[in-house]
Amino acid sequence: MAEPLKVGVAGLGTVGSAVVRILGARAAELEARAGRPIVVTAVSARDKGRDRGLDLSGAAWHMDASQMARSADVDLVVELIGGAEGAAKACVETAIEFGRPVVTANKALLAHHGLAIAQAAEAKGVAVGFEAAVAGGVPIVKTLREGMAANRMGRVFGILNGTCNYILTRMEKEKIGFAECLADAQKLGYAEADPTFDIGGFDTAHKLALLATLAFGVQPDPDGIYVEGIASITPLDLQMAEELGYRVKLLGVATRTEAGVEQRVHPSMLPMDSAVARVGGVTNAVEIDGDAVGALVLSGAGAGGDATASAVIADIVDIARGVGGPVFGVPAATLAAPSRAPMARHEGGYYIRLSVLDRPGAAAAIATRMAEQGISLKSIMQHGKDDDTAADAVSVVLITYATSESALRGALDAIEADGHIDGAPQVIRIEKR
Ligand SMILES: NC(=O)c1ccc[n+]([C@@H]2O[C@H](COP(=O)([O-])OP(=O)(O)OC[C@H]3O[C@@H](n4cnc5c(N)ncnc54)[C@H](OP(=O)(O)O)[C@@H]3O)[C@@H](O)[C@H]2O)c1
Repeated sequence: MAEPLKVGVAGLGTVGSAVVRILGARAAELEARAGRPIVVTAVSARDKGRDRGLDLSGAAWHMDASQMARSADVDLVVELIGGAEGAAKACVETAIEFGRPVVTANKALLAHHGLAIAQAAEAKGVAVGFEAAVAGGVPIVKTLREGMAANRMGRVFGILNGTCNYILTRMEKEKIGFAECLADAQKLGYAEADPTFDIGGFDTAHKLALLATLAFGVQPDPDGIYVEGIASITPLDLQMAEELGYRVKLLGVATRTEAGVEQRVHPSMLPMDSAVARVGGVTNAVEIDGDAVGALVLSGAGAGGDATASAVIADIVDIARGVGGPVFGVPAATLAAPSRAPMARHEGGYYIRLSVLDRPGAAAAIATRMAEQGISLKSIMQHGKDDDTAADAVSVVLITYATSESALRGALDAIEADGHIDGAPQVIRIEKR
């Protein structure tokens, strides 16, 4: 019989417990796929006494994940602790130092330290699998790294955070406000007690950094990503989007441009009948535009124990079969240094909602400020009042033809300075199909 692959699992929470359970329950099928048995021989978590509903009798317990990573009990280390620093980083670094392959679901760690981790792993000739780090159970990493090898990618974008998509979908369907939907998402366990990381767009940014690296061969650059969250979206914006034939989604978008790779995370309007726009609830969806294959869309469960374990175990099986190769598809040394396309040069259409004060000449002044920046308006719609519309104001929605972010900002700054509007303008970028 082939030698078993001895697996050490660090972190036995939502994902780690599901990995251990499925590895045990599907042992025979996984052995057939991997060509050798896969056995959990060691585990690590903080609380040894906690009942996790798992049979851990055959596994050595380590209080220290790095100690587990260097123990003779393991051939492969699965890191499911989380966080860009601390125990997770030490565990992964130790595993590589000791020549052990790693499987991780940790997007924060790879977004911030992926280059150094890939360099260290390649120097030691060990694999690092991170399928679960982007879009949970959706096999987007393998698709980009292997399935799309023949393509030059133009754009990769998608819904990468289930919490945000759940909130926006409910706001749209039930015409309720952001705060109410967020509270429900927290009650249902879709959102953390501190939801900033999800709703602020930062979780999406970590995943986008990894997608951009895989698609464009650039070093992960999470600090170069323009990030806006969804907290300012109102039911009126969603209603207007629907009337205009769009749906609002929090998108991570990475695009190859002449000025470098543009990476941005923000609420976007997508044509309602496009594949990504149709994906609702906690589901994730990613579209890749490749020059040979055209547009490819993958969607599915972006989170949850079993779905994420599905991706973790796929990586374990690959490594058990001896499938390896550079971490990001090309040698880490060849990844290009980040060349950030500045957001000011972003070009596209815009939805702008203004609370225009009821004064003579206000509408004409706004149109003039747009024209001064060379911005053409596709439509102007006056609408009722939103919750945040002042008593003596009306909501006016402008849709622009393609223009630059800097021209738009110039026009909006001038409009604000003219004093015809109440509060800050709402701006939602329109993502082309
Ligand atoms: N949950 C998802 O749906 C999902 C989806 C995609 C990716 N991920 C990623 O998967 C990873 C794990 O997420 P999760 O939701 O499973 O987290 P979780 O439920 O919070 O579990 C974290 C686990 O790590 C253990 N831990 C914490 N500090 C430790 C330390 N210093 N040494 C050893 N173990 C330690 C905890 O131990 P105790 O149990 O003893 O407290 C717990 O078992 C994260 O990187 C996350 O971003 C999660």
